[in-house]
Amino acid sequence: MAQSPYEGKLIRLRAKEPEDEPAFFRWINDHEVIEHLSARYPFSHAQEREWIAATAAPGYARAAFAVETLADRTLIGHCDLVGTSPEHRSATLAIMIGEKSCWDGGYGTDTMRTLCRFGFAEMNLHRIQLEVLAGNDRAKHVYEKIGFRVEGVRRDAHFRHGAYRNSIIMGLLEGELRLD
Ligand SMILES: CC(C)(COP(=O)(O)OP(=O)(O)OC[C@H]1O[C@@H](n2cnc3c(N)ncnc32)[C@H](O)[C@@H]1OP(=O)(O)O)[C@@H](O)C(=O)NCCC(=O)NCCS
Repeated sequence: MAQSPYEGKLIRLRAKEPEDEPAFFRWINDHEVIEHLSARYPFSHAQEREWIAATAAPGYARAAFAVETLADRTLIGHCDLVGTSPEHRSATLAIMIGEKSCWDGGYGTDTMRTLCRFGFAEMNLHRIQLEVLAGNDRAKHVYEKIGFRVEGVRRDAHFRHGAYRNSIIMGLLEGELRLD
């Protein structure tokens, strides 16, 4: 039987639902979850509802998914491929495993593999890029583990907690995804 394009070993990608809002609200307002993201101002429930409504139906322009566990369908995060270009066949990836109890449980790696596989096999992408802040060592480790390579650094691109941080540009080309 063919493998589901939405499923990895631990997770499933699905469309977002309005009922997901409380979890998304909790995560985006959790300083530990957003420590290495650009988000900084508090988000309202209304903003989260608008964001879900705007991104709930995944498509080529914005392939945005909720991430749930295969084991018991618990919502644990979200991820997306945005800024897609049909000419360059490229997109920019973002991921959040918001449920902190799941960190270091293999879910982020499985989500990245599943989303990248989806991007290459279902969206006909040639290139997936992302940015990770210097100091987000867990995320960088996961990206390198599945095949992303460092392509450059945007120096002092991010200001937070009274100091500047570099932003590291990483890219993955078709055929470079490491599935194990
Ligand atoms: C980054 C994130 C997606 C990783 O997800 P996760 O489910 O924790 O990842 P996994 O469990 O699959 O893998 C974590 C890996 O990082 C390693 N790791 C943990 N802390 C580390 C650190 N400080 N330095 C280096 N590696 C680290 C783990 O050992 C594990 O590697 P291994 O499987 O080779 O042993 C998740 O923690 C997250 O969403 N964080 C908050 C939002 C965020 O930072 N998003 C990314 C923005 S670029």
